[in-house]
Amino acid sequence: MRILGIESSCDETAAAVVEETGDTARPWRTLSSVIASQVDIHREWGGVVPELASRQHLRDICGVIERALDEAGAGWEGIDAIAVTQGPGLVGSLLVGVSFAKSLALARGLPLVPVHHLAGHIESLCLHNGPLPLPAIVLVVSGGHTSLFHVPSEGCYALVGRTRDDAAGEAYDKVAKLLGLGYPGGPVIDRLARAGNDRAMSFPVARMTGDDRTKGPRRGVPGIDHEGARWRTDFSFSGVKTSVLRYVKRREGERLDGGMADASTPLFSAEEIADICASFQRAVVGALLDRTFEAAAWARARSIGIAGGVSANSRLREDAQARGAREGLPVFLPSLALSTDNAAMIAAAGLRQFRAGVRADLTLGADASLPLG
Ligand code: KG4
Ligand code: ZN
Repeated sequence: MRILGIESSCDETAAAVVEETGDTARPWRTLSSVIASQVDIHREWGGVVPELASRQHLRDICGVIERALDEAGAGWEGIDAIAVTQGPGLVGSLLVGVSFAKSLALARGLPLVPVHHLAGHIESLCLHNGPLPLPAIVLVVSGGHTSLFHVPSEGCYALVGRTRDDAAGEAYDKVAKLLGLGYPGGPVIDRLARAGNDRAMSFPVARMTGDDRTKGPRRGVPGIDHEGARWRTDFSFSGVKTSVLRYVKRREGERLDGGMADASTPLFSAEEIADICASFQRAVVGALLDRTFEAAAWARARSIGIAGGVSANSRLREDAQARGAREGLPVFLPSLALSTDNAAMIAAAGLRQFRAGVRADLTLGADASLPLG
């Protein structure tokens, strides 16, 4: 069986063809994966502009799907179903993919499978590595999300932690913006941090020790008693971003006090920028891995997965593997191409949903805040 996946939740228009292999060790094979990135359009504005994103999806979607079919060597006869990201994401962007997928399903008489964007990120792990030893704890960390899922069995995702404010990728992007490093910030901070001293500055990350009173009862994993558990699995990244901002403001103040008000000379040397990037990154990666490994111990997980755009981060990858090796817990990551948004992961999650009997009809709507688990 072959499925066409369509992804348009944010600023990437993507289509991919994925097929089942019949091999339980590697259940899916990617035949094509095409991505039209809008990053050059949004860079000028320092972030994604929703209205520009949805208009660009409209321009790109036909060509992207045609290329995905071409590269897969599959005509429409070779496609058995269509999977599409239903949410969460930018509603205008999602609507382009959902409307297009519904039209294709109607015109070609194909079944339509709705996919949750984060389920796509989670299934990118199985697409790249084969099935993870279960139960697993999976961290999905991107520009829009930082969430921890307990995966007790295939296709079952229980939310056990999430950010209370900024996503980790969003913190990377905001810190890069305030240092004048451009957009998106994650890859540039990752690169510059390699030359820096990660202990040069102290940028603390808040640790959530109390229940979130604004969001109702705490989440838990069905069948696992978390009463008395001393750990908390929520994240918070707005504080670390603010502490970098305070550092920048303090240095600006020092420059003024020192009578060096010439704004044309850069505030920071290249070495200092590298130190800020490295120190910020150490704080964020440490917080991500601490919560993830604590959750894994608590859930007696047999593996850890890390997916989403920030899983492309070189330090997160290295530290996660090293810590996994120390603690005897295998850590799984997607390929770099599967870390950031793509449609192969949506097609893979769509195949899983299809086999579970999930179908949508033509009343399917985009849902900007679709929950998972
Ligand atoms: O998954 P994704 O492509 O889109 C969302 O669903 O949000 O993730 C994009 C995010 C951006 O915030 C970007 O800065 C971050 O992933 N990112 C990285 C790296 N590459 C991308 N963050 C840290 N290090 C990287 N190497
Ligand atoms: Zn994503």
